[in-house]
Amino acid sequence: MNKKTSASSGKSKGKSTGRSRIRTPRVELHPASIKYLYKGHPWITKDRFSMKFPQGSPFVTAKLEEGKFAILLNDPTHDSVLARLWRIGEGSHLGPKDFYFELRQRMQDSFEARRGITDRENYYLAFGETDFLPGLFIIRLKDRILVQFYSNFWNHFEKDILKIIKDFYPNDKVWVQKRNLKRKKEFYCASNKSIQEDEFTVNEFGVDYIIRLNQFYDIGLYTDMAAIRNRVKDDFEDKSVLNLYSYTGAYTLFALKQGAKDVTSVDLSQKYLDWLEENLELNKMEGNTSLCMPTIKALEKFKEEGRKFDLIICDPPSASSDGKKVSKAIDAYKDMIPLFDMILNKGGKAHIFLNTHSITRKKFETKVKEYIGKRKISITGALRLTGDCPSLKGFIEGDYLKGLTLLKK
Ligand SMILES: C[S@@+](CC[C@H](N)C(=O)[O-])C[C@H]1O[C@@H](n2cnc3c(N)ncnc32)[C@H](O)[C@@H]1O
Repeated sequence: MNKKTSASSGKSKGKSTGRSRIRTPRVELHPASIKYLYKGHPWITKDRFSMKFPQGSPFVTAKLEEGKFAILLNDPTHDSVLARLWRIGEGSHLGPKDFYFELRQRMQDSFEARRGITDRENYYLAFGETDFLPGLFIIRLKDRILVQFYSNFWNHFEKDILKIIKDFYPNDKVWVQKRNLKRKKEFYCASNKSIQEDEFTVNEFGVDYIIRLNQFYDIGLYTDMAAIRNRVKDDFEDKSVLNLYSYTGAYTLFALKQGAKDVTSVDLSQKYLDWLEENLELNKMEGNTSLCMPTIKALEKFKEEGRKFDLIICDPPSASSDGKKVSKAIDAYKDMIPLFDMILNKGGKAHIFLNTHSITRKKFETKVKEYIGKRKISITGALRLTGDCPSLKGFIEGDYLKGLTLLKK
């Protein structure tokens, strides 16, 4: 049952010293949600309880047990995650002033945790739930900062976030992006509203990449992959590399930088392959061949040609189209793995990824084992978000980028 207090009631039973005397609306949670909150899972997904959360209030509070309350960031317009945990404590109220100071402290802690990163100009300053800033992601891109809201809750506190960022990074140009499930492009430059687009380069592990803000939904470089790229850096030297779903070529250029013999990049989009070419020119790098075609078609072509590779990087979107039908990455591996088997040299490796929070790591591995069947391929390792993009214990959705390393025996 929702007990919504009106703004004029003026009664607060909470311990807040905040400037607002409006009591945080009380909501009830599904018993399973309470169990998960205690296990470290910070999301309240859509159910018959959360669907009753009030529309107008940024915060709601729920009693978990005697004397224990959860303060939740309310997001009733979200398709599935209707609230995110801010904190569990004795107080049932959170005033805006208290929230501002807690937000500032959490942002400062999360900025400080990244101070040691010196080998790249792109890194997460805040990684949402893991930094106890649920739904708020902040990427540093050399002298730009990109704030990404995955929850509409943050619209209420946009000014506060921008102020805190300005205090810590006074000279950076700040952009805000509202991320959404429809992948609709929604950017604006908070430092200068008259700027429509921004193009610049950032350096990641000695390679320059062109970043384009407000041209596409994504910006040209996936920062959550940076620490993983660094993890596999020793695998490229003198190797013939196949980069599938290459996008703008982050792995292609990284491979060449690490001394790969040659790289073949495959992507469905000529637009991204042109961007890859621009990145190569920028770095004066040679040794790549790009193919604009669906991955499966490229793999069949290599099989027919008897073409072999030493290393495959395969990082598909969670669902993709070959121009005709849409297939989920997990299912696409059923057709791809037998082809990897045919085009990998003996002793060759494949780093394969699944980029979705809706399939667990365990299920991914089980499926891949099933697709390998009796082939002479073994799973030799796992890759996961790391470094500036850590995972949170108990929050499996946060572990969305899953990698496995396959070895051809
Ligand atoms: C998640 S991005 C890959 C990111 C890249 N691995 C990186 O680290 O920068 C997915 C890419 O897959 C491409 N793509 C989607 N469907 C495809 C398909 N069926 N065959 C080849 N490329 C595809 C998209 O154009 C996009 O560039």
